[in-house]
Amino acid sequence: MITIALTKGRVLKETLPLLERVGITSLEDLNSSRKLVFETNHPHIRLLLLRGVDVPTYVQFGSADVGIVGKDLLLETECTEFYEPLDLGIAPCKLMTAGLKGISAPSGRIKVATKYVNSAARFYASKGRQVDIIKLYGAMELAPVLDLADEIVDIVDTGNTLKANGLEPREFIGEISSRLIVNRASFKSKHEQIERLLTAFRNECDQSGSAL
Ligand code: PRP
Repeated sequence: MITIALTKGRVLKETLPLLERVGITSLEDLNSSRKLVFETNHPHIRLLLLRGVDVPTYVQFGSADVGIVGKDLLLETECTEFYEPLDLGIAPCKLMTAGLKGISAPSGRIKVATKYVNSAARFYASKGRQVDIIKLYGAMELAPVLDLADEIVDIVDTGNTLKANGLEPREFIGEISSRLIVNRASFKSKHEQIERLLTAFRNECDQSGSAL
């Protein structure tokens, strides 16, 4: 059995068509079911539906052999015991700083609200800027509006969420996309199956199209 941990939400929307293209189809609709484990058209492949932040944990401990998760979350995780062999190129977006439109950040020490505390700390340190980081778990866009923070660090795709909340993007931190990660022990013990899976994903990412 190969267990693949998927990330709910925006990443899932682009993961499902990719899975279809490599020939893996869930027997039930992942979007409408409340289940968390799904059988597929391959009796030896099952899917888990998780919050992205938990995908590296399931893969690190071998509860999932393979995971699909955004690089934004991989940059934050304390889990390191997995391989990251493939950039799937799906759910692309940018990690950015942002603040209230038309207002520049104060020159001294600033408050930064984010769920990406590691990436934010590294970015501001690389610029030699002093920051107090406030950890949030969502709705970061509210923080500057309600004066909780001077800036936020968040992923930006269309920019609509920033705009709708009176914010503007400021500095670019990095390109983000979803990655395929593999448990180290599984990579050895289930080498042939995982290699086949990797080849199928790799071919699909290269657009040459070879299904499982
Ligand atoms: C992300 C991010 C922004 C939004 C940006 O949230 O935190 O809120 O998407 O996208 P946009 O530039 O296209 O407006 P997401 O919807 O993934 O939910 P989350 O808060 O659970 O991360």
